[in-house]
Amino acid sequence: MMFVFTVFLVCTELLAIAIFPLATSSSDVAYPSGYGDDFGTCGKDVDLVPLRREVYDNGRIFDITHKLTPETPVGDSSEGIGQFLSLSLSMKNGSLYNFSLMTLLVHSGTHVDAPGHVFDHYFDAGFDIDSLDLEVLNGVALLVDVPRDKNITAEVMKSLNIPKGVRRVLFRTLNTDRRLMWKKEFDTSYVGFMKDGAQWLVDNTDIKLVGIDYLSVAAFDDLLPSHHVFLKDREIILVEGLKLDDIYSGIYTVHCLPLRLLGAEGSPIRCILIK
Ligand SMILES: *[C@@H]1O[C@H](CO)[C@@H](O)[C@H](O)[C@H]1NC(C)=O
Ligand SMILES: *[C@@H]1O[C@H](CO)[C@@H](O)[C@H](O)[C@H]1NC(C)=O
Ligand SMILES: *[C@@H]1O[C@H](CO)[C@@H](O)[C@H](O)[C@H]1NC(C)=O
Repeated sequence: MMFVFTVFLVCTELLAIAIFPLATSSSDVAYPSGYGDDFGTCGKDVDLVPLRREVYDNGRIFDITHKLTPETPVGDSSEGIGQFLSLSLSMKNGSLYNFSLMTLLVHSGTHVDAPGHVFDHYFDAGFDIDSLDLEVLNGVALLVDVPRDKNITAEVMKSLNIPKGVRRVLFRTLNTDRRLMWKKEFDTSYVGFMKDGAQWLVDNTDIKLVGIDYLSVAAFDDLLPSHHVFLKDREIILVEGLKLDDIYSGIYTVHCLPLRLLGAEGSPIRCILIK
């Protein structure tokens, strides 16, 4: 019953697209020829198992965003984000459609921080997610591996030899090896920047996008000092909780798009790397 209904909906939509050009005009072309010749699988066998992918286009596009599930970790909780979706309207209860409500801490899973996260006067002045520079969040990026036996100190930063001019760096650490983002309990022993490492980055590199593979760029012991160093000048954007498994280190194009949350100091973000 459910199956038949779903297929019917899909077919109706396709039918609407198919007749639209005929119904509206005879002279103007609604889309280039060749664009709509194939109306998909309508009427044929429909596979109702969704395809979920980490990699697209034969290994060219990598999704470096973690899925949000009830087990997705969030700072300071041992329970994960929990049941963050609920149905406010449900077809099973007689509604015409499903309509979900999302209740989510903005620093959950793969997310971005705005300057208002650790500076109250920036928060009050409106330096929120909507004020972040999309140019910084999108462009050429370097994926680097950091030594697995240390937090990111000035000495470690120096040893990475990141050339001047590199503006976006994703740091892969022991966190990825330990699969910390797959564990719902927040783990304070994660690797992150120590204050001197953050300061070294600010003073000696052109990096404006700092990405890391756990919920905070700052090591737990230097949680606030490192965040302060990064966000003080409101030039550096911090993307946290990235999924950097099974990707060669090197140069990519990164695309990260946060939600346009006015007044929020954090947001879930979707990030991809393109070879
Ligand atoms: C509606 O959404 C719920 C929860 O995501 C899902 O279990 C259900 O199959 C959906 N469809 C209908 C017709 O209820
Ligand atoms: C459907 O309605 C019942 C009774 O009000 C409620 O207990 C149940 O949670 C609802 N289910 C959904 C999916 O909304
Ligand atoms: C990094 O620092 C945390 C404390 O913030 C510590 O628990 C952890 O062991 C350190 N990791 C390494 C690899 O030194």
